[in-house]
Parts: sequence; C-alpha cells; structure tokens
Amino acid sequence: MLILSMATCRPALAADDAAAGARRLAELGRLAFFDKSLSASGQLACATCHDPKHAFAPANALPVQLGGAQARLQGTRATPSLRYLQATIPFVERRFGDDDGGDTDDATPAGGLTWDGRVDTLHEQALIPLFNANEMANADPAALSRKVAAAPYADAFRAAFSAPGEDMFGHPDDVVRDLTLALEAYQHESPEFQPFTSKYDAFLRGEVQLSTQERRGLALFDDPEKGNCANCHPNTVSPRGAMPSFTDFGYVAIGVPRNRRLASNRDPAHFDLGLCGPDRTDLSRHTDFCGAFVTPTLRNVATRRSFFHNGAFHSLRDVMAWYVQRDTNPGRWYPRNADGSVRKYDDLPPAYRDNVNSEVPFKPTDKHRPRLDAREIDDLIAYLRTLTDGYGVPGNKAAALTGGSPTKAGARPVQQALGETQHEKPD
Ligand code: HEC
Ligand code: HEC
Repeated sequence: MLILSMATCRPALAADDAAAGARRLAELGRLAFFDKSLSASGQLACATCHDPKHAFAPANALPVQLGGAQARLQGTRATPSLRYLQATIPFVERRFGDDDGGDTDDATPAGGLTWDGRVDTLHEQALIPLFNANEMANADPAALSRKVAAAPYADAFRAAFSAPGEDMFGHPDDVVRDLTLALEAYQHESPEFQPFTSKYDAFLRGEVQLSTQERRGLALFDDPEKGNCANCHPNTVSPRGAMPSFTDFGYVAIGVPRNRRLASNRDPAHFDLGLCGPDRTDLSRHTDFCGAFVTPTLRNVATRRSFFHNGAFHSLRDVMAWYVQRDTNPGRWYPRNADGSVRKYDDLPPAYRDNVNSEVPFKPTDKHRPRLDAREIDDLIAYLRTLTDGYGVPGNKAAALTGGSPTKAGARPVQQALGETQHEKPD
C-alpha cells in the first residue's frame, strides 16, 4: 500500500525514466521536508519535529512539540520516529478474518500510521501536520499552494507537475496532492529512512557478537516469564528474510499514566482514547478499543527523550520500572484519590479500565514481585541500546553512546551493509 508507482502517474515513461522521475520527485520531497516556509509560523518544517539527526524524531525532551501560527501551541501526542515505516501494514480492524480459520478471540486491530492508525499512506499522513492548527497550521490548500509557489524549488515543482501549457499553481488542490506525493517519495526513496545499521542488525547478519550484558538483556526481552517484550515487539528475522520491525503493529491499552503537563489534559473530562477517539472517529462505538494505541517500533528507542503516546516518561529506566511495577507498586506511578486510594490507569475513564492489558511483564510473579529487578532492567536497557542505527559509522555519536564500541565487522561501509539487507514489502 505504501508503494508509489511513477509508472501509473506517467504511463508513457519507460522504466528508466520512471526511476529517474521517482528520484526527482523524492528530491522535491526532500526540499519540502526541510522547508520551514511551508508552515503558518515560518518556523516549522517536517524536519523540525522529525529531525534526521535523531532518527527523524524530536531532538528535544518535550513530551509533545510546539506548533501553530506562532509556534507556541502544544501538540497532543509524542512525535514518533519516521524510520522503518515501510514495513507498516494497512490498518485492519480485525487482524484475523472471521472466515480464515484464525483465532477470532485474539482478533484485534493492527496497522496504519500515527498512534491510532487513522491513515494508511504517507501522502495522506502528510496532510495532517500541514493543516493541523497545532502543527504547520495552513488555513487551506490555497494558503499552502501560495507558499509552495514562493519556495526556491517552485520552478522545479512547476516543471515536474504542470500539464503541458498549464501552470499547476492555478490549482491549489493539485499542488497539495503533488506536494504530499513528493514528501511520500522522499520517505520511500531515501535510504536514510531504513538504514538497518544498528549493532543488533549487524549481530543478526552474523557480523558482530553482543556483549555478555546485551545477551542477558536479549534473553530477558524474549523470555515469556520475564520481559515478554518480543510478544508485542518481535525481534527476529522473518521466515522470508525480513529484518525485524520491533512491532507487531498491534493496538494495546497498557494504561500509561496521564500526562498532566499537556495543555489538552487541563480539562479533566478530556481523554485521548487512541483507537476510539477523539482524533479518529470511525471506531468511537467500539468501547473495547478505548485506550488502545499502536505498539511502536523499538528501533532507535534509546535515542528518544520522551516515551509513550503522551510523552509521560523521559527515561528508559522509568519506562522499564513502570512496566514491571505498574501492578506491584501502582502508588509510585499514579496519583491518589482524596481517600488515599491509588487512582490506577488515571488516563482512562473508569468504564474503560478493564481494557488494560495485564499479561507479563505487567503481571506480578506468584510471590507478587515485579518480573524484573534493577539489574535485569540494566541488562534490558543495554540490549535496547543495540537497536540504535549508525553502529560502526565513523563519527556517529548516537550509536557510540548507546551501542558500545564498534568492532572491525561493525565498521563495514554502510552501503555494503545496506546492499545485503533483505527487506520484505507487505503484501
Ligand atoms: C509539530 C510537530 C510535527 C511536525 C511539524 C510534523 N509532524 Fe509528523 N508527527 C508528529 C506527531 C505528534 C505525530 C503523531 C500523530 C498522531 O499520532 O496523531 C506524527 C506522525 C507522523 C507520521 C506517522 C508516523 C508513525 O509512526 O505512524 C508521519 C509519516 C509523519 N508524522 C510525517 C510528517 C511529515 C511528512 C511532516 C511535514 C509535512 C510532518 N510529519 C510534520 C509531529 C509533527
Ligand atoms: C502487550 C504488548 C506489549 C508488551 C508485552 C510490551 N510492550 Fe512495549 N509497548 C506496547 C504498546 C502498546 C506501547 C505504546 C503504548 C502507549 O503509548 O500508550 C509500547 C511502548 C513501549 C515503549 C515506548 C516507545 C516509544 O517510542 O515511546 C518502550 C520503550 C517499550 N514499549 C519497551 C518494551 C519492553 C522493553 C518490553 C518488555 C519488558 C515491552 N515493551 C513489552 C506494547 C507492549
């Protein structure tokens, strides 16, 4: 679904011309991605929130980014990384069809882009920030079209998209469509979006060994009685040879604490319920989906400075401690009611609190102990740090900080590593 075929846009072009056309389109998309003039404030490009130096996620530790006409309005959700979105499957309400013999009891929604899966393609997705009042805040297609017409790449844009004898800038809706296709092409074509250069990728390719601590972390990640992380964040090469995505694209309510620093949460009656609204409206009657957000990839997670859909956490250690103490020591994480009782799952109205998942690692041990102790959390974090791209790339501070020292094998040229990467396209 994310495949952009130039051939369908320009049927007369030969395959080579189509490839060159796709590259030109991607180049226009790259220019637009970094162009702050496309926002109402003039201060916000896609790259401001999705910084290429931070795996296309924010450089700062704000729980949500600022946008709008003055670039001062808070958004409502944490900004995800744009890496590895190629593997994303289109949104399905039931992952297993009723008639395919699958286990329908387990059938849950999966796929799609954004935290609630409300769009399927990168070009539809780009429309959200371009027009969202808290983000790039363009009033309408005409306003955005005027900005593209004034951009340094306007002539190239006109040449690429105008029909013979016509100036496309007379058709704002077409400008918006072609701009979003260019942004999509950039995210598809540029290898920066799927480098597969983490230490763990090198390990899966048999090029490096993990350290003893990283191996212990990997074992905890996989162990169904300890981390059980791989159950939702799968970490193995697929039977068809695709490198792991670290997400099964599934939606789960895990009961993340309410983030009281968000302006949208000042209203005690406001709840971001993910799949069942308010941003997406088609599933609002599905109350069993309330509170469910997509399982994010854990690739490059050690470079993030805010975690979960509402940015409620700012360190991996807190995230890990919360996972295993949510049900053993909830008073550490949730506020108290007037009577002293803990208001567990306080970011969900009481009626939906039963939706919250309580499998391992949330589920306490038989002795009501957390599944992981402090040392095991250290080990798990050491493993998560091997998921940072740029391992062995000279001068890459992020990977050096999070992935340990490169070995000879890890220092191989990125292009060579890329050439060997098999990557599966969704059917
Ligand atoms: C003000 C910060 C901001 C700006 C500017 C911004 N984004 Fe985002 N982006 C976000 C947030 C927040 C989300 C999550 C939205 C949600 O879940 O509702 C997101 C989600 C996405 C996603 C989906 C990622 C996923 O994991 O599903 C894509 C793709 C994306 N943005 C591309 C872009 C493009 C292209 C632009 C420029 C046209 C852009 N963004 C501008 C903040 C921003
Ligand atoms: C039942 C499925 C499930 C299991 C098991 C699970 N996760 Fe998650 N994980 C999720 C979901 C869903 C989210 C997003 C929740 C939200 O934001 O509301 C998430 C978010 C995260 C995040 C935040 C990432 C970000 O970009 O903000 C980290 C880190 C993480 N998980 C690590 C782990 C680790 C490590 C384990 C094992 C100890 C684990 N998870 C087990 C489903 C799961």
